[in-house]
Amino acid sequence: MDRYCVFGNPIAHSKSPEIHAAYALQTGQQLHYEKQLAPLDGFAAAVHAFIAAGGKGANVTVPFKLEAHKLASALTVRAQAAGAVNTLVFGADGSITGDNTDGAGLVADIVQNAGVALIGKRVLLLGAGGAARGVVLPILEHRPAALVIANRTVATAAALVEQFGALAGPGVLSACGFADAAEAFDVVINATSASLSADLPPVPAGVFAPGALALDMMYGAQPTVFLQFAAGHGAVPRDGLGMLVEQAAEAFQLWRGVRPQTAQVLQALRAKL
Ligand SMILES: NC(=O)c1ccc[n+]([C@@H]2O[C@H](COP(=O)([O-])OP(=O)(O)OC[C@H]3O[C@@H](n4cnc5c(N)ncnc54)[C@H](OP(=O)(O)O)[C@@H]3O)[C@@H](O)[C@H]2O)c1
Repeated sequence: MDRYCVFGNPIAHSKSPEIHAAYALQTGQQLHYEKQLAPLDGFAAAVHAFIAAGGKGANVTVPFKLEAHKLASALTVRAQAAGAVNTLVFGADGSITGDNTDGAGLVADIVQNAGVALIGKRVLLLGAGGAARGVVLPILEHRPAALVIANRTVATAAALVEQFGALAGPGVLSACGFADAAEAFDVVINATSASLSADLPPVPAGVFAPGALALDMMYGAQPTVFLQFAAGHGAVPRDGLGMLVEQAAEAFQLWRGVRPQTAQVLQALRAKL
């Protein structure tokens, strides 16, 4: 049976085995997907051992996404743009292809699951770390009217504008600090890690246009402080569970050539949170 896994440290919390087992069952694909705890100083060795044991592909999570980017012998365009890899494909010729499905997962969740088109919309992206960098290109591909990247360290957001500016229309992409995000947006995405420590990126309440979609990449049994803040100011809150399920579907398609349906898997995961 073809073997796949997710590498991380820690990894016990990962929902990926459950998601991929559900996709395999649904699509009739024969595969085994497991968790692999890689030592913090032994990611590459763990990947090579998994390949030697017959591994066909892997997902990569915290803290190895940058190392996976370095390890890959080939990168997809979106992995190059993201500067990070969350999906590996192991070729029979020994090649290791690195892809990044996080951005496509986020956009699929917004456009298909939440039913919010991005074309012509004003989008505010909070954060400029690995997760934010991975979503800039997939969002720009949907031709928003504006994509503003706000970050605590403004220089990091400005570097993203520098990197992606040529791919956006004139004036579409810009950077600022949280407090400077003064206008109203149709979609506000929290890609900071502030929610992990129950912090709120200090954006003005006016960033949420009435009925705006507020999406936090984090997920949990309770809404994050960001989602509570957003809901209290007229936005429709959405957590990152749909993004997780959609990035997994994208990886599954890459490995197996078949696209799984995500709705029931998302519903089942939600019920267990
Ligand atoms: N749902 C999913 O499938 C999925 C996938 C990927 C990531 N994520 C989530 O996305 C989040 C970000 O991950 P990442 O890999 O991008 O992390 P990262 O590379 O460490 O970047 C962290 C970002 O958060 C900002 N930040 C950190 N603490 C903050 C605070 N207290 N207030 C305001 N801003 C703060 C940082 O700003 P500075 O630049 O100023 O340091 C930076 O922009 C995590 O919560 C992660 O779990 C979810």
